[in-house]
Amino acid sequence: MKSKLLYINTIGCQMNVYDTEQMAGVLFSLGYRLTDDIESADMVIVNTCTIREKAEQKAFSFLGRLAKIKAVKPSLIVGVGGCVAQQEGEAITRRMPYVDLVFGTHAIFRLPEMVRRIEHSRCRIVDVRLSDVIEVNKPVDVQLNENQVSSFVTVMRGCDNYCTYCVVPHVRGRETSRHPDHIIEEIRIRVEKGVREVTLLGQNVNSYGGKEGLCSFAELLKKVNRIKGLDRIRFTTSHPKDLSDDLVSTFGCLEKLCHHIHLPVQSGDDDILKRMNRKYSRDSYLEKLARLRATCPDIAITSDFIVGFPGETDRQFQATLDLIETVQYDGLFAFMYSDRPIAQAAAFSDKIPNLVKKERLKALLELQEGIRRNKYQAMVGQVREILVEGPSRHINTNANGVPPAQARYRGRTSSNHIVHFNAPNSLLKKKELLTGTLMDIMIEGAYAHSLWGRVTQKTMAEKTGKGGATIAA
Ligand code: SAH
Ligand code: SF4
Ligand code: F3S
Repeated sequence: MKSKLLYINTIGCQMNVYDTEQMAGVLFSLGYRLTDDIESADMVIVNTCTIREKAEQKAFSFLGRLAKIKAVKPSLIVGVGGCVAQQEGEAITRRMPYVDLVFGTHAIFRLPEMVRRIEHSRCRIVDVRLSDVIEVNKPVDVQLNENQVSSFVTVMRGCDNYCTYCVVPHVRGRETSRHPDHIIEEIRIRVEKGVREVTLLGQNVNSYGGKEGLCSFAELLKKVNRIKGLDRIRFTTSHPKDLSDDLVSTFGCLEKLCHHIHLPVQSGDDDILKRMNRKYSRDSYLEKLARLRATCPDIAITSDFIVGFPGETDRQFQATLDLIETVQYDGLFAFMYSDRPIAQAAAFSDKIPNLVKKERLKALLELQEGIRRNKYQAMVGQVREILVEGPSRHINTNANGVPPAQARYRGRTSSNHIVHFNAPNSLLKKKELLTGTLMDIMIEGAYAHSLWGRVTQKTMAEKTGKGGATIAA
């Protein structure tokens, strides 16, 4: 079968990254191979996000670009998938007649059939059916990148929480968990292909298995922890209201579980939390963090924040700043509240002017910047274990492609900090000693968003079988 080229533009969260892999995986059987070159593609898919207005605009502006490409190449198949596709459905084909296929978040496994029909009869198809069960649960044979060390695996779909600002329950459907056997099998397949770290994905992994009567999320983690060849486990996202003692205790006993939790709080004010329908209070959140820190003292804690939720007063915003100061987060994402027409808060009164939202975002990020700087500084002089992910992006290689004496590599600490280091020559000679391995690094300094350091004597001795000298970064 002659291979056809597929270009996929992924916008949005890690779930979309995973879904993109699934799309490429199911279309492989029809002869489609991924390309980075949009001009040469036979089919272009945009996997969209609608979490904020900006994300939605990004999808439509990319589709605008595709209109021009399709005008000179009418054979091009244009597909729109993901959350905007789910939200807008047929309206997309009406607004953009050059779009051949609109498929929602539950239609990925029906892609081969739909694409085959389009190839044969150039028809236009819209499939945004949502179902309450996961129709295809078994692992798809995905095309991983060469030397891919880390991978996402979805453990559950959808969300039942209906936070008032959020579109996810509307575009991803009801919360549904995958069977643990399929999850384990999928991770094993990835480990055989070289993956060493897996991030388990769900909108609220804490309620994993509840509806279906499968095992709990803590039990699932224990099963994953037993997979041979896997070095690290991460998960996201955990909802504070459902953070169970069982899950907290896994941080004390599972050696592969990374010492990091992303626990989005959104706001530090109880009234705002109530109107967001988050179902926890500032105090109960802080109490959960205290339990996490008591179980795992070096756990890194990150969070998401929304500034300028309808009706948010200056005093309520101050409560958010105060929470950030109290917790001393290792990292955070902050967003200006964005109206989503299908979400409940779109109808709330007292919308906050854009300018105020911008000022609040700026103040929040400035506060966090100071905290980050102190945290990074405190790491200097410490030895941290990293999982090496590959060469740093701007690696120098000379004209023959032979790495220079010192080549810059990067990895991640258990706490999810990126660390760069100069790979010693003796390790560069054998690639299997670098990418995908665990190494101890002495942290020597900090950039704005990452750290740098050098390989310790101990790691050098273990890897080369000799006493090996350390090499300065
Ligand atoms: N399931 C996760 C969040 C998924 S969405 C959770 O419950 O925490 C990722 C983040 O986007 C959210 O944590 C929130 O901070 C942000 N977000 C969601 N809807 C938003 C909106 N309408 N405006 C601004 N930010 C939003
Ligand atoms: Fe959205 Fe809330 Fe569900 Fe997270 S828990 S996806 S914020 S509705
Ligand atoms: Fe966006 Fe959909 Fe993820 S709206 S954040 S791609 S679940």
